[in-house]
Amino acid sequence: MSHIVKIGAATLYLGDAYEIRPTLGFHDADVMDPPYLFNNSGGGAYRAARGASDQIVTEGLDRGFDHAIVSPELCGAVVIFCHNDQLGDLIPAIVEDELNDFDALLVADMFAALRPKFRRAALLAWIKPNPAPHRNKHYLADIEPYIHAWNQGFAPVGDHHDMHRWINAGSMPSKVYGHPTVKPDAVMDKIIRNVAGESVCDPFMGTGSTGVAAIRAGKRFVGIERNPAHFETACRRIEDAVSMGAA
Ligand SMILES: C[S@@+](CC[C@H](N)C(=O)[O-])C[C@H]1O[C@@H](n2cnc3c(N)ncnc32)[C@H](O)[C@@H]1O
Repeated sequence: MSHIVKIGAATLYLGDAYEIRPTLGFHDADVMDPPYLFNNSGGGAYRAARGASDQIVTEGLDRGFDHAIVSPELCGAVVIFCHNDQLGDLIPAIVEDELNDFDALLVADMFAALRPKFRRAALLAWIKPNPAPHRNKHYLADIEPYIHAWNQGFAPVGDHHDMHRWINAGSMPSKVYGHPTVKPDAVMDKIIRNVAGESVCDPFMGTGSTGVAAIRAGKRFVGIERNPAHFETACRRIEDAVSMGAA
């Protein structure tokens, strides 16, 4: 049983994405920041500075997600944030063909395993000038990848200067909304400017960052979040966005 809140052009569901998303019908774009898949062990001298990573694990957001929630029956395009280590599984799971330039370097060898869903895709990046200090014998996590995949009629849109594959923006401290992975407004505003259509769904809404950007852009928004505290934060943020639009 889910709890539903309507705020202006937004409809928010407190409940499970895998149950609710299939019942919500077609949206022009699904924009999601689903649970990551990563290893939080180690940390060395920087261990104490990784509170947000520990909260990700505590909330069970380190175990990945079921790719079946991404369906061309439900959306014309999809935007998915992911951890670096998920790229190998995720890209071949959602991209059909028609590769171009550097995307091909990552994707070409993986196509044998495809479950074709979308015709074209691009790999994009949120570049963080303030990455977490721990590296675990890896690069600094100063790039968070996201994938934008689309079918015919839902190609990326935007002014020429908005069509870069990267956005540079500082990450949001987890204390602001009590959530470890809040996406900054600048990142979400760019993504929403680049998706085609009028309706946006975020099945893993968190604190509602996608919804805030969608409402500010004049789009309809549907979001799902299972954590009641984060759901309340999303309601509050989206109420603010709606009332600022109405002012
Ligand atoms: C990476 S966070 C998204 C954060 C969001 N982008 C923001 O800016 O606040 C993923 C969210 O999905 C939620 N979540 C995880 N599994 C879920 C499920 N099966 N159904 C609904 N929500 C889920 C988590 O509680 C978490 O808040």
